[in-house]
Amino acid sequence: MPDSARQCPFTPPFPPPLKSKAGLLKRFTTGWKSWIHTLFEKSYRMKMGSFKVPTETFFVVNELSLVAKVMDDEHKEFPKHRLMNDMLDPLLGRSVFSTNGKLWEDQREMINPAFMHTNLKRAFPAMDASAADLVALLGAQDLSKPVDIDPLMTHVTADVIFRTMFGMTLSQQESARVYEAFNRYQKHVQPAMILQLYKLPSFGRRAKMKAAAADVHALFAPILAARLELLEAGGEKPRDILQALIDARHPETGEPFSRQDLLDQLSIIFLAGHETSASALGWTFYLLSECPEWQDRLLAEIEEATGGGEITFEHLKRLEGVRNLFKEGLRLYPPVSFFLREVTRPQQMRGKSMSPGDVVIVSPWLIQRNADNWTCPHSFDPDRFADKANADAARNAWLPFGRGPRICVGAGFAQQEAMLILARVIRAFRLAHPQGRRPEVVSRLTLRPRHGIPLLVMPRR
Ligand code: HEM
Repeated sequence: MPDSARQCPFTPPFPPPLKSKAGLLKRFTTGWKSWIHTLFEKSYRMKMGSFKVPTETFFVVNELSLVAKVMDDEHKEFPKHRLMNDMLDPLLGRSVFSTNGKLWEDQREMINPAFMHTNLKRAFPAMDASAADLVALLGAQDLSKPVDIDPLMTHVTADVIFRTMFGMTLSQQESARVYEAFNRYQKHVQPAMILQLYKLPSFGRRAKMKAAAADVHALFAPILAARLELLEAGGEKPRDILQALIDARHPETGEPFSRQDLLDQLSIIFLAGHETSASALGWTFYLLSECPEWQDRLLAEIEEATGGGEITFEHLKRLEGVRNLFKEGLRLYPPVSFFLREVTRPQQMRGKSMSPGDVVIVSPWLIQRNADNWTCPHSFDPDRFADKANADAARNAWLPFGRGPRICVGAGFAQQEAMLILARVIRAFRLAHPQGRRPEVVSRLTLRPRHGIPLLVMPRR
């Protein structure tokens, strides 16, 4: 590896930690905007912490053996916390992301066949077509000024999952509508959570969340109706995620999903299937834009692997640098920056007593930026994933997809799609960050840039 890449002394932006633990009022005012803005210096070093708000007691678990205990949940004692489910309910209803126990187990059994359509080889052509369309779309922008890549990442990742779910493409207008509605949802969800934690009324935010969720659902209702009509008319069954969900039967009762259940499951597969990938790609492109050496190096890797030809499924395995870049992007900016689990029986952890109902926070953001786990934890260095000395950290202190029984079912899909999009864009363009303000990261349901990610995009040819 060339020294130039190693020397890139680049620490990308993150909220400056507070000097000391925030009090109730400070936590309210900063948490209103974004959870990671409430963190203080010790948060990044400690093994475990705790804090209280009027309605809940929170325990932040960073020690890796405890992280494994909570997330692997061998004794089924740390289900997803009702607080998170409350916040997701208008959007995702009773879908597989937020349910617990037997209901979740049955739902997983019912939707597992749908995930066959996310099989990597099978999904490759749809991903490749979307990535090629993105390159064309980028090329068609006014490149004399910075391009905000944030909505474009939503467009391309929504298009990929849309093609996989329904076998059809998503127009830019449709993806813009979803982008706007989901951003609206995110804008209200963080304050709504804070208000609930402080026992205050939601001041209409719940109603706004419901309206935004209805706008997201509006995308699917006509597609579902058209498919049900087609089936009723005896049309041939398409082979896609939607059809697999329609054909799914409850393992015990044999009942199909109701229309509402179908909409909920479609919403979660669509949202989980693109929002996180869009966030990850946006931040990864930003990191790349600050490091021209990495762009040169990865371009050389891609040209060598493909011999200058099209990127195929087989080539992806050889793009180790691109894979490590994406992993590093996920380490520095994990789209889901925290997981909430519920204590269901009295527990002791590092001398702290936990009671049923308490909230456990496991935060990839903190674990992946803790100096006990990673050297120079706030700096950008994809090569850390090529270093065998970090194998243990990569296994236990890198968890952007979660771990244990609730681990992401789309991790392989996300990695393949991201590598393809990164490789195609690196090949077609040079990226640079314009002088001036760097993007500001805020943590709501996912990590997002507060004012977008404007980048200079320069065609290579
Ligand atoms: C970079 C992209 C992605 C990231 C960072 C990500 C992250 C996560 C995380 C952290 C969880 C578990 C949350 C928890 O334990 O509380 C999760 C669950 C899930 N993800 Fe992903 N995800 C990504 C892409 C995808 C894709 C592409 C799909 C679908 C094709 C998907 C579908 C799901 C589903 C259905 C679940 C719920 C699994 C269950 O609880 O049974 N995700 N994801």
